[in-house]
Amino acid sequence: MKLWGGRFKKETNSLVEEYTASIRFDQRLYHEDILGSMAHVTMLSECGIIPSADAQSIKTGLATILTDIESGTVTFSVRDEDIHMNIERLLHERIGAVAGKLHTGRSRNDQVALDMHLYLRSQLVTLSDLIVAVQTALLQQAKNSMDIILPGYTHLQRAQPVLLAHHLLAYFWMFERDLQRFQDTFRRTNICPLGSGALAGTTFPIKRERVAELLNFAGLYENSMDAVSNRDCIVEFLSAAALLIMHLSRMSEELILWSSTEFGFIELDDAFTTGSSIMPQKKNPDVAELVRGKTGRVYGNLLSLLTTLKGLPLAYNKDMQEDKEGMFDTVDTLTGALALFAPMLATLTVNRDAMEQAVREDFSNATDLADYLVNKGLPFREAHEVIGTLVAHCLDRGCFLLDLSLADYQKHSALFESDLFAALKPETVVAVRKSRGGTAGSAVKEQLGYAEKALASASNWIEATRVAITVSTQSFLNEQL
Ligand code: ARG
Repeated sequence: MKLWGGRFKKETNSLVEEYTASIRFDQRLYHEDILGSMAHVTMLSECGIIPSADAQSIKTGLATILTDIESGTVTFSVRDEDIHMNIERLLHERIGAVAGKLHTGRSRNDQVALDMHLYLRSQLVTLSDLIVAVQTALLQQAKNSMDIILPGYTHLQRAQPVLLAHHLLAYFWMFERDLQRFQDTFRRTNICPLGSGALAGTTFPIKRERVAELLNFAGLYENSMDAVSNRDCIVEFLSAAALLIMHLSRMSEELILWSSTEFGFIELDDAFTTGSSIMPQKKNPDVAELVRGKTGRVYGNLLSLLTTLKGLPLAYNKDMQEDKEGMFDTVDTLTGALALFAPMLATLTVNRDAMEQAVREDFSNATDLADYLVNKGLPFREAHEVIGTLVAHCLDRGCFLLDLSLADYQKHSALFESDLFAALKPETVVAVRKSRGGTAGSAVKEQLGYAEKALASASNWIEATRVAITVSTQSFLNEQL
């Protein structure tokens, strides 16, 4: 007999059961579901809606179910459709008819919304922690590379030399914004939808504030119809996730390029690379490639949910069951990528010589030579023209700017003097870019300070939030009757 079987005269077609069931994937919400139910019955008994002895036996029953699910002794059934009805059925088997009081004043619509809010808010904290680990690895590598210079690129053509620390910290700030987006999403996820009923509220004298308090939510939805049809926080999460994996993917691309023989700028640790089944010499950056590759599914999950939601009338529609797999998949994809990225970054080794060689053998000091002439009074456009001619001259001769003699220079402009050679050295070129956020050592040191502050405040948020949202099922069981 189905939990909703009363009005039906026929058995459900078994293909319909298969097709509409979500238990295959929503069993992942068992913990949230049980926690939510414990808070709900606690409130029901406090409000005198069910006897406290009944509430206590429901909670004890739920606790045994939780233990058994965790020890792997529970089998779920497609016939019971989803995690909510599977747990209710199990409860009924264990404590009998009193189990039927659990769903008083509640619908699966607000129940599933609650489970999703509980799940997502804790994942946002866990993922933030993983982002912080990646940022920590970047910061450490940056500190170790304050004196390493490499070409900075635009159009993937050598542009101007930069400190490796500066290059690495660029990613730090991308992840900082990702973290902020997760924190912001958290604020709108930490709101309790339970007590909205199917869509219109409930006739029972419930106390929604109490459930929110028991589950450590910061607030309540003010409209029951909004509460059961809202999936915005999941969309926000998927959207922030899309940006995050885009950043990871761009970084992956650079790690792959930089570890090629052509660049030779870095070497990934053996433990974070893989070999080839046919070519014995190969060491492949598979992790970075897969992160780049998995970007597609994370974008897909966002587009998929947006599309699912776009034509839905209020309030709950079964379409919304499609919110789960994409969210779980994105959580798993990010967890895997971030967990590997931190140690992969921490263990890579930098080939300082290759980077410095690359800087010596390029024209990335050409802007500085133009600035040199500007400082001697020439308008920038004219200076640009002079240096362009000098670069062309070098290219004809197969040399670089530092290889020309002062006499060569003076043929192009009488403003050149012997101090130009010092101005052209990569160390100088880097050191003079002292503008705030620039690549000079002094500016990067200042930047490191800001990065450290940001990291400390993120860690504080994670710790404080973890404490603020932790709810134990035990605390519900420990209550006095
Ligand atoms: N399994 C459903 C879901 O994930 C739970 C809510 C079902 N509500 C309903 N009225 N059929 O969305």
